[in-house]
Amino acid sequence: MHKSVLLEESIEGLNIKPDGTYIDCTLGYAGHSGEILKRLETEGFLFAFDQDENAVLASTEKLKSISKNFKIFDTNFKNIKNCIDTKVDGILFDLGVSSPQLDEASRGFSYHNDAKLDMRMDRRQKLSAYEVVNEYPLEKLVDILFNYGEEVNAKSIAKGIIKNRPIETTLELAEVIKENVPISYRNKSNPARKSFQAIRIEVNNELGILKNAILDAFDLLKPGGRLVVITFHSLEDRIVKNVFKNLTTDDELSKKLPIVPDNMKAKAKLITKKPIVPSNKELEENKRSRSAKLRIIEKI
Ligand SMILES: C[S@@+](CC[C@H](N)C(=O)[O-])C[C@H]1O[C@@H](n2cnc3c(N)ncnc32)[C@H](O)[C@@H]1O
Repeated sequence: MHKSVLLEESIEGLNIKPDGTYIDCTLGYAGHSGEILKRLETEGFLFAFDQDENAVLASTEKLKSISKNFKIFDTNFKNIKNCIDTKVDGILFDLGVSSPQLDEASRGFSYHNDAKLDMRMDRRQKLSAYEVVNEYPLEKLVDILFNYGEEVNAKSIAKGIIKNRPIETTLELAEVIKENVPISYRNKSNPARKSFQAIRIEVNNELGILKNAILDAFDLLKPGGRLVVITFHSLEDRIVKNVFKNLTTDDELSKKLPIVPDNMKAKAKLITKKPIVPSNKELEENKRSRSAKLRIIEKI
């Protein structure tokens, strides 16, 4: 089952009003959505997004047992503005994949279980890990493994992948990766971990859509509304940090002016000067929380 990360901290960060309207952009198994819905009264409402139909099916049942005041969109949160035309009091992003996605072998996310290479969160999409692994040119593979996986052996792994094509399954890929890293590296953690993460990020374009999605979400907030984002990857966190920085500081050009005009003023205030990270207790109980960072802003 999925164990929600930074659950208390993010729910507290949303500052939920019982009659407010909220959006959970990453429904997953409704850990956060369930807690939001429990805090809403009859006037309150929750919208939620997930592009994985398994998550939508499971969570619909769970949320129904709490209240009827919700609507789920079975689509990518990059479409938030096409789906919602009302202003809301708070929006949550809990990025990345859920434990059931990683654990269900057939989804092809795991380097422990054999399955066809896949890694799509949205199984309606065409691009899967199979095409990334078997069709991408060397430079693009090196780039992905190095940047999205922070994999120092990106070049040798990418060369190994190309030499062994076609690679059909997760375990075949894990074996190729293992054979193409130094022996000392093989015994550290699983040598395939970083490459699998990198390929997953590429397949689902996780970093490519983030900045615009956050800005679109911010537009939907009422003044005083909160935007709460949990990230699991340093590049993801950097994107969030920079978007939040731009929204919470006056326009650079305004420094030259005696008075800052309204359209150049900061649009939000920073609630978390430094990101909130999991407590030692959470780290002990949930290994998946180890790279989590939570950032919050409030619209002015
Ligand atoms: C970390 S899980 C969320 C877990 C959830 N907060 C809970 O407590 O159960 C992330 C979920 O967001 C979904 N997801 C990730 N990126 C998405 C996107 N761009 N659009 C829609 N759903 C997305 C994934 O399919 C996954 O189910």
